[in-house]
Amino acid sequence: MEREPLGVVGVGWVGLVTAACFAELGHEVWARDIVPEKVESLSRGEVPIHEPGLPELVAKNAERLHFTTDMGDLLERTRLLFVCVDTPPTYSGDADLSRVEAVLGELGDSNEHALVMKSTVPVGTGRSIQRRRDGVGYVANPEFLKEGTAVGDFMKPDRVVVGANDESEEYADNVEALYAPLGAEIVRTDVASAEMIKLASNAFLATKISFINEIANVSEELGADVREVARGMGLDDRIGPKFLQAGVGFGGSCFPKDVQALKQLAGNSGYHFQLLTAVVEVNELQKRRTIGKLQKHLGPLPGKEIALLGVAFKPNTDDVREATSLVLAGRLAGEGANVRAYDPVAGRKAEDMLAGASIAESALEAVDGADAVVLVTEWPEFAELDWTGEVKKRMRVPLVVDGRNFLDRDKLVAAGFTYEGIGR
Ligand code: UDX
Repeated sequence: MEREPLGVVGVGWVGLVTAACFAELGHEVWARDIVPEKVESLSRGEVPIHEPGLPELVAKNAERLHFTTDMGDLLERTRLLFVCVDTPPTYSGDADLSRVEAVLGELGDSNEHALVMKSTVPVGTGRSIQRRRDGVGYVANPEFLKEGTAVGDFMKPDRVVVGANDESEEYADNVEALYAPLGAEIVRTDVASAEMIKLASNAFLATKISFINEIANVSEELGADVREVARGMGLDDRIGPKFLQAGVGFGGSCFPKDVQALKQLAGNSGYHFQLLTAVVEVNELQKRRTIGKLQKHLGPLPGKEIALLGVAFKPNTDDVREATSLVLAGRLAGEGANVRAYDPVAGRKAEDMLAGASIAESALEAVDGADAVVLVTEWPEFAELDWTGEVKKRMRVPLVVDGRNFLDRDKLVAAGFTYEGIGR
């Protein structure tokens, strides 16, 4: 295939990773966003999100990467438009497709372009767009990128899903060819199945997490250690070791939204997806369980000083969407506790969402005078703190609730800490 420039519509996290990685594979990429400040800073080579390896990739491929606010630039120069706009949940739990619709509007009645849908959309979206916009090319190409490892996930995917219906098979061949250098298995399918693969994959992973979290909760009652249980389960290769880490619940921009979207989608079609209802509820309860653990040791919480270590929904990202820290800060404020939160990158960003919690400039500042430390996000630097020295000295009560089973329990207990993990 001759090298034609590629269009990327929406330069959020997925769009920027997609644009930078295709540039790295040698393609000229025109990436468009409606926010002028974002486009300006990207044009200067500044990457506005925290994603390891991405700034380097953007810098290295600066000559092939063009950022613009003008959709006309893309329509003029490119044929394949990778749609990477966000599709957040609405109050009803359905996905908000207004940004996808806006792109469709900008396309007008051009039949020279194909939409390659990377955004997560409800099953049936591609079909409905094709029905309404007779002749428009449409390829479903869902993303499976994890924040923090997105560049590696793009370059070495477990699989690439390319979905198309008869009239768009040629565009799908083009898309498939773009990924050929990655050497990954390509799952070529119809549009609806591709859409479902994305939602079902995330819903399944979320189910795995809620499942192990419930095993953890039962293990606490029955005296088992969930880490040992997960290890023993994970060696069965029908189960696999991944996504069996019990913790304070899943967050992020994908799992909560996609589980909700699939549940809603099923409901709209007349099917009650019972399992996913439980997955969501278990996760909500899991996010709040820490409060009970604090009360067990501290009694009523009014006036208690609680340090939250970690605000981001997971390490190596500054993303706080659906983060457990937000729920905990809110509940703790509701209980009358004073909360000080620290995160290596996400603290300030989340200030307004942390229910009046104050933001500390360092972990040590956060733990100063604390009645308890709650570890919410397993940032590597938290393991390296001088727990038995400086941290213990600064705390009023040496109580640690380790929401990720991340710290060295034996060392902490030997130093006189009261330690509460998850499922042990
Ligand atoms: C996820 C999917 O993995 C990715 O394929 C999809 O495209 C987008 O959503 P991401 O949201 O970046 O990626 O994070 P991920 O690393 O999958 O973790 C999601 C949440 O689950 C985090 O809050 C994490 O702490 C939690 N988690 C993960 C657990 O609690 N236990 C685990 O064993 C794994």
